[in-house]
Parts: sequence; structure tokens; C-alpha cells
Amino acid sequence: MGAAGVGWGKAILFGEHFVVYGLPGIAASIELNTTCTFEKNKSGIASNDLVTGEVIRYGDDKGKRLNQVLEIIFNETGIREGNFRLAMSTNMSVKGGMGSSAALAVSITRCLDREFGLGISDEKVNDIAFKVEKLFHSNPSGIDNTVSTFGGLLWFVKGGMGNKMERIGVKRPVEAVLIDSGIIRDTGEAVDFVKGQREKEPEKFSGMFEEYNGIALDARKAIEEGDWKGVGVLMNRNQELLREMEVSSKEIEEIITACLNAGAFGAKLTGAGLGGNAIALTPGRNLQEKVAKECKKAGFETYKILIGVQG
Ligand code: PMV
Repeated sequence: MGAAGVGWGKAILFGEHFVVYGLPGIAASIELNTTCTFEKNKSGIASNDLVTGEVIRYGDDKGKRLNQVLEIIFNETGIREGNFRLAMSTNMSVKGGMGSSAALAVSITRCLDREFGLGISDEKVNDIAFKVEKLFHSNPSGIDNTVSTFGGLLWFVKGGMGNKMERIGVKRPVEAVLIDSGIIRDTGEAVDFVKGQREKEPEKFSGMFEEYNGIALDARKAIEEGDWKGVGVLMNRNQELLREMEVSSKEIEEIITACLNAGAFGAKLTGAGLGGNAIALTPGRNLQEKVAKECKKAGFETYKILIGVQG
């Protein structure tokens, strides 16, 4: 067995969709990740698609998306020939909301970097993963690949002259629960839907953007102070804006109600919405366990995570 590379999964605490328009987002890496392991192969390059489970050969039509991902990474790294298998494995949901596409790109790039001693910097890994993100939807903010590359709890602002990323310090990591609605959806579709809504109602959106900006600034301060009650209230307010944006869904609302009834400090969708995942803030192991149990009882898959473990 050869080298391995890891890409972290992420949870957006504040700002999905808003970040696409240059407003600040707050996101954290989670313990869930995707790993790529380099193995020798008899002939040619092969890999396995985490979504379909298919084994694909590089250059074949089958597994088109994974082939496109490999094409970008091979172009950027200069590694495009050989007899090897990039063995992919993951413990995160590939249905959307955990940044699985960014984690895929980061893990493959890091694996090749280690195996061939390419000396690729983190910035370059991030850049390559961003190029891959563009395959999955046309206008990514860059938040997923940034968190997947650098890890930790980050303040992220997309900018024309380059993105801004700052680490947010916390007194101690805090417990949260990710809940999978079971509805698979496409990030690109959700981003395009929001774009269309904004074009129809520019004034409504500029009001929402202004309100959200205040929420993000207050949230950063509350996180730094360890004011988790305050953070929860702000998450709920962020969710109200996402509802107004019409990217929430019946299942997400059902999950949020279950989480808040079980005592979560705050709950909202995380990722692009229209299905995908929700996140509940649940400081303390007991509350985390209680909220996860209620969601499981309602039929949803849950992941217990810690926010603020530095990358
Ligand atoms: O659905 P996810 O986990 O890929 O998150 C998408 C976040 C968006 O803000 C909706 C899009 C983006 O590129 O930032």
C-alpha cells in the first residue's frame, strides 16, 4: 500500500448561499472525512466512485464525473500516467451538505502529492479543489474546499481579489449533531434557484443580505466568547432567512422541530438545502445524545460532531 491523503468534511454553521454573494460564512471541519489510498495496479489508472460504488478506469466513459475530477487533478499535478489505483473510502454522507466533493478532491491531491513527493502547498491543494468544485456547480463560493483543506473553525469571505480566511478560536470545542434528511439534492440546482429568486426580488434579497451580515458578525463574537445560547438564537435567525429564501424543506423543518423540542440551542439546515443535512447545536454530551436520539426516533440518520477542533 502506498501513500494516503485525507480531505475533511465540513459543516456550515452560518451563511450557506449568502457566501456565494460575498457575505461572510462560518464553517467547521468535522471528524468525518474521505481518504484516498495509493495502490499498485496491473495496467492503467483506476478508482472507485463513492456515490455509485462503481470501479472506474481513467479515460473510460463510465464514471464520467469521477473521470472529470481526475482529469483536473492530473492536469494540475502533472501525474497522468502509470499503473495505479486510487482507492477511495469515506465515512461521511455523499448525499450533500457535508462537502463530500471538496473532500474527494483534497484527498486525491494529497495522496498524489505524498506518493510522488510533489511538494504541493496547502494553498495549491485548495486551488485544485476549487477547480473541482466548479465541476459540481458553476458558482461555488470556495468555502467547502477551504475548510476541507485547512480544517478547523473558519471565518470565510469570498472576494474578487482572493478569498479571505481567518481561524476562529474557541475556549473549548462544542458538541453538535448533523442530521441527514435522506433527500439527495444537487448543490448547483439550489444555487441556481437562489440566483433566480434574487433576480426576481432584488430588494427583498438586499434586505436579507443586510440582516444576515449582522447575524454573521454577532455569531463570530458569540462563538469567540463561548456564548452558545446566543449562537443558537442566531442559528435560528439564519434559518428564518433560509426559509424566506425557500431553500428549506418539509423534512428539514421536521428535523429542526425535533431538535428544538429536545432542547437544542439552535438548529438550521446546513449546506445547500432543499433536503441534504441539518445541524443542531447541542453543548454537552448529554444534550447531544438526547437530540441525536430524538432524530433517530423520527427516522433520520445522525452524526455526532465536535465544532472547533483546530485543523
Ligand atoms: O451543499 P454543500 O455542502 O456543497 O454546501 C453548499 C454551500 C453553498 O453556499 C450553497 C454553495 C457554495 O458554494 O458556497
